[in-house]
Amino acid sequence: MTLTSASSTDQKKTILITGATGGIGRANAARFAEEGFNIILLGRSKEKLELIYEELEKSNPGKTLIHPFDFTTANADDYKILAAAIDEEYPCLDGLIHNAGLLGTLAPIEHYSEESWEKIITVNLNAPFRLTKTLLPSLSRSRDARIIFVSSSVGRAARAFWGAYGVSKFGLEGLMQTLAAELGKTTKIKVMSVNPGATRTAMRRDAYPAENPADVPTPESLMNAYLYLFGEEGRALHGKAINLREINTKNQIKISN
Ligand SMILES: NC(=O)c1ccc[n+]([C@@H]2O[C@H](COP(=O)([O-])OP(=O)(O)OC[C@H]3O[C@@H](n4cnc5c(N)ncnc54)[C@H](OP(=O)(O)O)[C@@H]3O)[C@@H](O)[C@H]2O)c1
Repeated sequence: MTLTSASSTDQKKTILITGATGGIGRANAARFAEEGFNIILLGRSKEKLELIYEELEKSNPGKTLIHPFDFTTANADDYKILAAAIDEEYPCLDGLIHNAGLLGTLAPIEHYSEESWEKIITVNLNAPFRLTKTLLPSLSRSRDARIIFVSSSVGRAARAFWGAYGVSKFGLEGLMQTLAAELGKTTKIKVMSVNPGATRTAMRRDAYPAENPADVPTPESLMNAYLYLFGEEGRALHGKAINLREINTKNQIKISN
């Protein structure tokens, strides 16, 4: 089911955020709506999406479209239905933030659950591939689009026991670089990966249960950096692996490749 109150004649930029019902994705939704973007929110829980929709309608009416979508179960038709719903509502898509992610249980490869491995690769890597492929026609119609792959430090340097999560993020970096090489000269789409760094969310609490959440920066503190990527300066970052905290703290960016 899709709820919408955004006008199809609205010429503001439109972005899609996956995993919009949790920590960083939810903060993305609130901030991009506040900044005047039309936002399309994907999440696996219809109930959570509807609550966020109601909240955003109060603060920033007419900007939000929600679309329940579970990456573990979605099939080819579900992706086509999503693309058709977006095309019906908006002339193009100006941004795609691949934010949804699953951590799984930290374990050595020798004891890693195969079921968990497949689920995490499906959500963290296969879904961004399928979603990107499905939405490229809409993104190609934008005058200045971004595709942001939300990665992690463990997707840039391996860490013991992070298993499928780390490997999926390495894959995401590869997908980003491949796509950047393909799109760079032929489209106006700019593609990049971002490492949010330690951020106070449910995933962080699961990964570091002994840590005091009060010591960890909030998702909201990342939002200026996300907006920066969608601005003029973001264009120059095509194909780059970015540390989001560097944008926030030094007003300059650290690029990993
Ligand atoms: N927090 C950090 O310190 C940190 C550091 C580095 C990278 N990251 C990355 O940042 C991104 C956001 O993480 P977060 O910390 O905000 O995590 P989070 O609070 O756990 O949120 C993850 C989001 O992904 C959604 N999701 C999980 N499985 C899904 C599925 N099968 N289909 C659709 N959506 C699904 C969750 O939905 P539900 O609400 O239904 O659970 C939730 O909205 C992730 O890609 C993560 O790897 C986070």
